Amino acid sequence: MARTICIAFAIIGLCIGCGPKEVEATSSTSSTAPSTAAGYADVQAVFTKSCVGCHGDTNPKAGISLTNHEALMKGTAVTAGDPANSLLIQALRGADGKKQMPMNAPPLTEDEIKKVEDWIKAGAKA
Ligand code: HEC
Repeated sequence: MARTICIAFAIIGLCIGCGPKEVEATSSTSSTAPSTAAGYADVQAVFTKSCVGCHGDTNPKAGISLTNHEALMKGTAVTAGDPANSLLIQALRGADGKKQMPMNAPPLTEDEIKKVEDWIKAGAKA
């Protein structure tokens, strides 16, 4: 009888011992999981909705066309890998003394700006 109790305690002890470690292991893997960057199609959808009215192919404002990846990358609005130094992001946030875009309209949502930022951070690929 005493032996059974002993074994029971040993099993409980093992379970308590391994419990927290398991939790730690799962939380550390999830925090280092790579975030999936937005593809350019998602970014273009934002520009098409909010920007191309003024930044189209014909006489775009500030010389910046936002109609497609090629047109955008021809200019200097994007510094691939470096959103904070990209004119595009500075304009979306109204940072660094830039006029906030879209002009004469409410700013984009944080989600939309993050999408563009993540895309630039991931290399601004087509
Ligand atoms: C209603 C017209 C209009 C819309 C819509 C608009 N822009 Fe602009 N944008 C302008 C004008 C005008 C300028 C030039 C501002 C200046 O130099 O004073 C400009 C300038 C810029 C610049 C250069 C900023 C600078 O300081 O050099 C960027 C980048 C830009 N726009 C991005 C965008 C993006 C991204 C969107 C969509 C989210 C957008 N714009 C929507 C009119 C617009």
